[in-house]
Amino acid sequence: MKVVSRRNFLSAAGTFAGLSLLPLAGCSKSSGEVVRIGFMLPYTGTYAKLGVAIENGFKLALNSLGEKPFGKTFEFFTVDDESNPAKATDNANKIMTRDNVDVVIGTVHSGVAMGMVKVAKETGTLVIIPNAGANAATGSACLPNVFRTSFSNWQPTHPLGRVMVQNGHKKSVFVTWKYGAGEETLASFREGYENAGGELVKELFVPFPNVEFQAILTEIASLKPDAVACFFAGGGAVKFVKDYAAAGLQGKIPLYGSGFLTEGVLEAQGASAEGIMTTLHYSDALQNPQNISFRESYESVFGEPADVYAVQGFDAGLLLIQALQATDGDLSQKDVAIKAMEGATIDSPRGRWKMSKSHNPIQDFYLRKVENGENKVIGTAWDALEDPGTGCSL
Ligand code: PHB
Repeated sequence: MKVVSRRNFLSAAGTFAGLSLLPLAGCSKSSGEVVRIGFMLPYTGTYAKLGVAIENGFKLALNSLGEKPFGKTFEFFTVDDESNPAKATDNANKIMTRDNVDVVIGTVHSGVAMGMVKVAKETGTLVIIPNAGANAATGSACLPNVFRTSFSNWQPTHPLGRVMVQNGHKKSVFVTWKYGAGEETLASFREGYENAGGELVKELFVPFPNVEFQAILTEIASLKPDAVACFFAGGGAVKFVKDYAAAGLQGKIPLYGSGFLTEGVLEAQGASAEGIMTTLHYSDALQNPQNISFRESYESVFGEPADVYAVQGFDAGLLLIQALQATDGDLSQKDVAIKAMEGATIDSPRGRWKMSKSHNPIQDFYLRKVENGENKVIGTAWDALEDPGTGCSL
């Protein structure tokens, strides 16, 4: 990837982003001079930072195309989905039908993503999911026009149980938000943990996006499990990790999780994150050339370190570039675009990955540990893990 300077990026981004502000109702799609790209992401609420990192990463990838790629102008449209599933259908309709985009990049929250998939089924709009892990999106509800560059909720915690048993933690408690992503993450953890000989003694929930953890921390202290595993992300992950330490549990009952627990939030968590072990398809510390150059570019352009969400957005951009190259920038050739994305191999900062038949990354999972404010890689948790894509017949 070409390393961009802050100045270069901003001038190129101006070409892209400035046009997104124009009222464009009634314009036709990309068969003309314009490629219309929609972002349906959370820009407010507990996942706001995740949405911004995804959009940044995506634009960084497109920036490598230089000015006016394929002779087209790129226009951007944005909807703040607030991570609110109740508004998902309306928001998806706004961006897919009213804004009439060629492709939507979205979203973070599993429940919102399922609303998008429903609308994408009706409209046929190309969708690239840059985070939300809802298993059904690339499983029972899979569609030819929906791709994912992140993970399925089944993936990150599939290796975690085995790791914990190997570390001698035979009895554990799982804590999460009560919504699709939390429940699917837990189900996958339970399967792997029990198969490895572990016993899940308690499942504890808080409603999404609540961050009142006192009651469950008191319960954990009295249950005294060998370890705790969890799924939290964004603002909720900051609060949970700080509260866990403040309750005196840090270092006493080891804390594990899917790696989102410590992504993009380590600075805010400070010393309370030290020692947390997680499984994820990325680590800041990966030493491959793509990651080194990506992290340098990202930080110099956006002024903060990249995280897994930035990588997933970046890879959504790399995936779309393959579709743009195959169609010479004309995404109205949907079949050609889909075929290109189906055959994609992505040279990602996370390591090289391939698209599965059900449109989800086949990728390596790393075991990470927070040391001195960084997610250090301490091993491989699972090589080339492929979601089973249950119920998908693409
Ligand atoms: C999800 O809702 O699917 C989700 C949200 C945030 C994450 C991971 C998964 O970090």
